[in-house]
Amino acid sequence: MDDHLSTAPPVASTTYPVNLTINGQPRQFEVEAWVTLLDLLRERAGLAGTKKGCDHGQCGACTVLVGGKRINACLTLAVMQNGKDITTVEGLADGAQLHPLQQAFIAHDAFQCGYCTPGQLCSAVGLINEGQAGTAAEVRELMSGNLCRCGAYPGIVAAVTEVMGLAEHQDNPDRPYLPGTVPA
Ligand code: FES
Ligand code: FES
Repeated sequence: MDDHLSTAPPVASTTYPVNLTINGQPRQFEVEAWVTLLDLLRERAGLAGTKKGCDHGQCGACTVLVGGKRINACLTLAVMQNGKDITTVEGLADGAQLHPLQQAFIAHDAFQCGYCTPGQLCSAVGLINEGQAGTAAEVRELMSGNLCRCGAYPGIVAAVTEVMGLAEHQDNPDRPYLPGTVPA
């Protein structure tokens, strides 16, 4: 082995300060530029409720809310979210009082293994905030970026439409249809 390589001091990685408000709590981190928001949440903030499925924007398991808007946390770097307000599944309940969507997911059996559920819940909160879904079909379309390998879709749609006050199987033909996908 080349001597100068074996004795070279390790190169320290450069880190950057990232200040976030996570579930209402101010948090400070020092992270390398390549750390995703998902890895920051799971590995540095101790919030493992947000799940890593594909790690490249295909499954929606990592969906969180940034400023009330849903995003895939695996597709954004933590440094890009400096100063932002993040809500994860751990922040949805109000103390011991579950969020209405959490209650509805239980009532409608909207999960089996539960791996996709944190992302489904955060995506549904974002969907409601967006205000673009007015029918069950639009709920399905606008949550199509959140995959469920257990196939709990009927329960998920039933839970979300119930919280939104929509009839699960009744679509309004007069309402303009706005196709789209879950934002990255
Ligand atoms: S982990 Fe699959 S979209 Fe992020
Ligand atoms: S409940 Fe198992 S992946 Fe959705």
